[in-house]
Amino acid sequence: MIVETVRRFAGEPLDVRLHTALRVLSCPFGELLAEVPHGASLLDYGCGHGVLASLAAEHAAARVTGVDIDERKVAVARRTGPTDASFAVVEPGSVPPGPWDVITLVDVLYLLPRPAQRDLLLALAAELAPGGKLLVKEMHTCSPLKSRWMRAQERVMVDVLERTKGAQLTFTEPDHLLRAMADAGLSTTARAVDRWYPHPHHLVVGTRGAVPC
Ligand SMILES: C[S@@+](CC[C@H](N)C(=O)[O-])C[C@H]1O[C@@H](n2cnc3c(N)ncnc32)[C@H](O)[C@@H]1O
Repeated sequence: MIVETVRRFAGEPLDVRLHTALRVLSCPFGELLAEVPHGASLLDYGCGHGVLASLAAEHAAARVTGVDIDERKVAVARRTGPTDASFAVVEPGSVPPGPWDVITLVDVLYLLPRPAQRDLLLALAAELAPGGKLLVKEMHTCSPLKSRWMRAQERVMVDVLERTKGAQLTFTEPDHLLRAMADAGLSTTARAVDRWYPHPHHLVVGTRGAVPC
């Protein structure tokens, strides 16, 4: 994944090349890709530069759409992503209509206040196809050491470098996510996906029930 990502972003400015290379090294994208069925329609909400969307198109032949509030990142995703992928700027909270087989939401919720987190999960769940999956990857605060490292890094990204758009940091524990996604009508599972990573990644998978025959 690292080689293909470095190649994909090779024509971009140095800061984007560094950011995307570090991203693919530090985020367990493989765990997410393993959840994407071959040929699925996939919405990557808060896609950033489109690293995951492009990997999903390559590894799972997914038909991808990526959206983000940051027009600079969306412009990079458009330049570097697969030709049949589409990338668009969205207003906060607005969700492209489904039905989507898979929706990915990777390290976005922590940038939103709690009520907006809940509203976004409800809005995304409503656009899933029957049997579709909402994959939410966030970072928890249960591990004190990993948690301190993560907070320091995110403050630099949001406040100092301004590389990530977001007003505040509201890290979300797995239990809170599980409740919110169950309230959105999804059946859920959660697991830690941080082995060998310095960040405390966790993944919650919410599946919308199939329509009864
Ligand atoms: C840490 S980055 C993660 C990007 C990408 N998901 C990834 O894993 O590489 C967080 C992204 O969420 C986007 N974002 C923040 N608030 C958002 C919102 N309300 N709606 C959509 N995207 C948002 C930011 O612009 C940024 O690109």
